[in-house]
This record gives sequence, C-alpha cells and structure tokens, in this order.
Amino acid sequence: VPTGDLTGKKLLVTAGGTRERLDPVRFLTNDSSGKMGYAVAAAAQRAGAQVTLITAPTALVAPAGVTVVPIESTQDLATAVTQRFPTVDGLIMAAAVADFQPLTQANQKIKKSPENDEFVLKLKKTPDILQLVAGLKQPHQITVGFAAETQHLLVNGQKKLTKKHLDMLAANDVSRSDIGFNGDDNQVTFLFPDGHTHETPVAPKTTIASLLIDQVSQLFAQK
Ligand code: PMT
Repeated sequence: VPTGDLTGKKLLVTAGGTRERLDPVRFLTNDSSGKMGYAVAAAAQRAGAQVTLITAPTALVAPAGVTVVPIESTQDLATAVTQRFPTVDGLIMAAAVADFQPLTQANQKIKKSPENDEFVLKLKKTPDILQLVAGLKQPHQITVGFAAETQHLLVNGQKKLTKKHLDMLAANDVSRSDIGFNGDDNQVTFLFPDGHTHETPVAPKTTIASLLIDQVSQLFAQK
C-alpha cells in the first residue's frame, strides 16, 4: 500500500489500553493490544513524519526511530498529550481510553473481610483527552480519533467526530471477533466533518494504518 508524504510533520500517536488502579496490585483495563496504534506510528514514520508514540503497557516492540513515552492511566495520557500537543502538527488517538477511573486509589492492597460478601467500587469519569485538545487546537493542527462501537457504528462515530472537533475519525465495529481489539486485522470507516465517508476492506492493521496515513497526508495537503 503506498503511503502519503508526511515529511517535516510532527505527530503524536497514542496506543494501548489505559490502566486505572484500584490499589498497588490491581487495575481496570480493556482488551486493547496496542497493535493498531503501533501500526499507525510505524506508517507515519515510514511516511517521513517525526513520531512520538504515547503508549499504555503492551507486549509490542516500538517501531525503530519513534520516540516512546510510556504511560499507565488516562490521567497520565491526558498530561502527556496536552503537554506535547502545542509542539506538534497532529494527534492520532488509537489508544483505548478508560471512560471511568476508581474514585479513590487505596495505598495498600484491598483486603477481603469475613463480614462482606460484596465489594462496591465507585468510579468517576476520566478526562476526555480529545475534547481537552479540541480547546488547544491551532488552525495548522489536525486531530484524528478512533471510535470503538458495538452498535450504530456510523451514527455514533459521526457524533464523536463532531463533539471532539476532529478532522477525521476511524470507526471500527468492536462487536466483531475478526476485527477491532487484539487481532491482527481491522476494518474501519473513515468519517469526515463534511459528511463524506470512506470504508476500508478487512485488512491487516498495518494496511489499515497506511490507508489512515494516506488520508492524514491529504488532510494536511488541504490545510
Ligand atoms: O489496540 P488494538 O488491540 O489493536 O485495538 C485497536 C482499537 C480497537 C483499540 C482501536 O482501533 C480503537 O478503536 N481505538 C479507540 C478506542 C476508544 O477508546 O474508543 P472510544 O470510542 O471510547 O473513544 C473515541 C475516541 O476518543 C478515541 O480516539 C479515544 O482515544 C478518545 N478518548 C476516549 C476517552 C477519553 N476519556 N479520552 C479520549 O480522548
């Protein structure tokens, strides 16, 4: 797959599933392997961009030549992204970000007690990183999100595109076992603010990433 030219562009790419800690040894997370985000980082780097990959813990090796920033929680990711965003040309958020975090984090390992057969965990909303970034966005900058949906893929994707002021959104149906989280393949529909859409075939995440980077280089060309 040919990849567009991103020479001279600085990009932030996020990958993996954030971890929200309950106590020193336990956390809430999701099924993200990081494969999609790492493939995007590699494709952007091949296209000539200077890439910083902000990544939650994964089993993957980062592409050569990419600057890696490890993070754990959504709050860490929010800090890492908002600090760097003013210095880059674009942000691509492939990370699977927790929408909720434990209200409090215990300093010691939580114990079970003989009196209680139930344990209630209270959660609070995490910051929405793309929404924070929308408020910092300069005219030369582009932001790209993903939408992980289990139903009404395009309608929900369109809502996220608008709400988060994105230049493009890649919607993927994560109810399917052959694409989405964890596997090597994906299929996405690219959504744009003018309402036009572009659907990819089911293909390896490396191919989907190249197609996404082609679209991103077109977005820069239109700026
Ligand atoms: O890692 P893999 O195993 O390869 O799987 C890839 C993937 C399925 C994780 C990936 O393709 C994907 O869909 N990533 C986005 C997952 C997600 O968090 O989707 P969402 O619909 O909940 O969020 C929409 C967008 O807002 C995303 O770009 C997300 O990064 C961002 N977000 C979400 C919550 C939040 N608090 N802040 C955010 O910025």
